[in-house]
Amino acid sequence: MEQSAFSLDGKVALITGGSRGIGRATAVAFAKAGADVIVTSRKISDLEEVAAEVEKHGRRSLAVAAHVGRMDQIRDLVEKVVAEFGRIDILVNNAGTSIAAMAIDVEEKAWDALMNINLKGAFFLSQAVAGIMKEKGGGTIINVSSINGFSPAVPTCTYAISKAALVMATKALAKEWADFNIRVNAVAPGAVETRLLNAIWHDKSEDEARQVKASLSESIPLKRIGEPDEIANVMIFLASGASSYVTGQTIIADGGALI
Ligand SMILES: NC(=O)c1ccc[n+]([C@@H]2O[C@H](COP(=O)([O-])OP(=O)(O)OC[C@H]3O[C@@H](n4cnc5c(N)ncnc54)[C@H](OP(=O)(O)O)[C@@H]3O)[C@@H](O)[C@H]2O)c1
Repeated sequence: MEQSAFSLDGKVALITGGSRGIGRATAVAFAKAGADVIVTSRKISDLEEVAAEVEKHGRRSLAVAAHVGRMDQIRDLVEKVVAEFGRIDILVNNAGTSIAAMAIDVEEKAWDALMNINLKGAFFLSQAVAGIMKEKGGGTIINVSSINGFSPAVPTCTYAISKAALVMATKALAKEWADFNIRVNAVAPGAVETRLLNAIWHDKSEDEARQVKASLSESIPLKRIGEPDEIANVMIFLASGASSYVTGQTIIADGGALI
């Protein structure tokens, strides 16, 4: 049987923030598409559950605890993956966090913490992995941006700034690393049902939370919040040969919210 252009058969994928939400859905989707998957985030017990799920699909998996904003932990992570799997074909820079603070109030410590995870971590992990990909003849990198990288929300300006920077990092790295046969793309999700999204209404009563969620859904042309799987499917396209002529691009998957 002819292989699907969307197949990830025989590929090795490293996914940051792989323990829950969009990262977890992507890990499982990649395994179903044929990839061996390494998941990383800070909490090992959550990661081990995802690794077990990947293995249920007959693929190899590894759970590695690492803080993506720390250079020493990025180095150890890449070394561990290469020691176990020999290479990395796909990197998904998905780990991310947000803080609620008006620009007038943002403190340096909070700025640094957020940028370390959302931007610096993605950049330097890409740099470390690109070295391996270059040696092995190529690969694909996917950054997880956000529609807030195009249109900021209040009061999450730092998040929006970091996500806009990821769109430019995607273009800049794609241009430099095309010579190494490394494609770099991004996905920019709109509202997706995860813990990060639920943090928006965590301090509200159940009734209020329901109302905020309903009005958010109403504001989206497709009239609903997205599911992690719907973002994972975009990542399969970007990770696979189906997108072989696509690089430096950010695909918006937001139910039409930005229109
Ligand atoms: N959900 C949405 O509506 C939405 C919309 C647009 C963009 N996004 C983006 O999608 C990505 C995934 O978010 P999500 O919604 O799936 O959120 P989530 O459910 O909160 O998952 C975030 C993941 O990142 C990991 N993480 C957080 N800080 C980390 C650190 N310092 N080092 C390593 N891993 C870390 C978390 O695990 P640990 O806490 O155990 O480390 C977790 O696995 C993020 O980049 C987010 O900005 C989400």
